[in-house]
Amino acid sequence: KNMSVIGVPMDLGQNRRGVDMGPSAIRYAGMMERLEDLHYNVEDLGDVPVSRADSQNTVQEGNLRNLKQVADSNQKLAEMVDQEIHKDRFPLVLGGDHSMAIGSMAGIAKNYENLGVIWYDAHGDLNSGDTSPSGNIHGMPLAVSLGIGHEKLTRILNYAPKVKPENIVIIGARLLDPPEKALLQELGITVYSMHEVDRLGMPYVMNEAISSLKQRTDGVHLSLDLDGLDPAEAPGVGTPVLGGLSYRESHLAMEMLSEADILTSAEFVEVNPILDDQNKTASLAVGLMGSLFGEKLK
Ligand code: ARG
Ligand code: MN
Ligand code: MN
Ligand code: MN
Repeated sequence: KNMSVIGVPMDLGQNRRGVDMGPSAIRYAGMMERLEDLHYNVEDLGDVPVSRADSQNTVQEGNLRNLKQVADSNQKLAEMVDQEIHKDRFPLVLGGDHSMAIGSMAGIAKNYENLGVIWYDAHGDLNSGDTSPSGNIHGMPLAVSLGIGHEKLTRILNYAPKVKPENIVIIGARLLDPPEKALLQELGITVYSMHEVDRLGMPYVMNEAISSLKQRTDGVHLSLDLDGLDPAEAPGVGTPVLGGLSYRESHLAMEMLSEADILTSAEFVEVNPILDDQNKTASLAVGLMGSLFGEKLK
């Protein structure tokens, strides 16, 4: 199988420095060797150019921090991802703050009638400028992909929405802003919050998620925010939330996805090496990639 790695050194979608070094940290943790050992033909395309924040890191029109720069970088990312899919290569995108999912999904969804999305995250990332408590665009990418938010973000590659609410599954949620909860309800999005994962267990949750996505979609994107895992396992993230998914649950989830063979693209995001403990979070990401792409003991 052919795979293309694209780094997105993005930190404009939030206000803690260091997450722009996430792609380097993941590469440094041995990603290429790990994937090549699994017999992938991997090409690392390097990083998408990300514009710099202006000196003030300003909240621009409509409560959106660094709107123009975030939109520009995502436009470039979208074009690149789309191109790789045309070449029949599996896009593996490295973040960077989660606002880069706007571009990756814009590039990916163009190629499917019914793209499915697994959003593995402590958060819903379902805010818009109107509802966001922070103005941080990394709290908005899932809403943007649903066509909700500023045109500069929702209209990347000139189409919207990118995904339908019934094709989304959120796993690991435990911190949602009130307007995000309302939107989830209104749109009927499937959410396995920590409550459901605790009650039902990860095997049940993944079986359900996989069988429903298999039925209704023609491609599935995994957007894995490392803060979906517990901060004890993943300390190198900008917005940690206690009580997250464990190391073992997460590896199991990746192994089940590998077995089901439904993924057509993936991204690993929010790795911040400055906040990390000896590159632990980047190493965790690489380990999860190992399970996702077929590592097995027997
Ligand atoms: N809901 C909060 C906000 O909108 C936090 C978002 C965190 N998102 C993330 N990708 N880590 O600001
Ligand atoms: Mn295309
Ligand atoms: Mn998150
Ligand atoms: Mn997120």
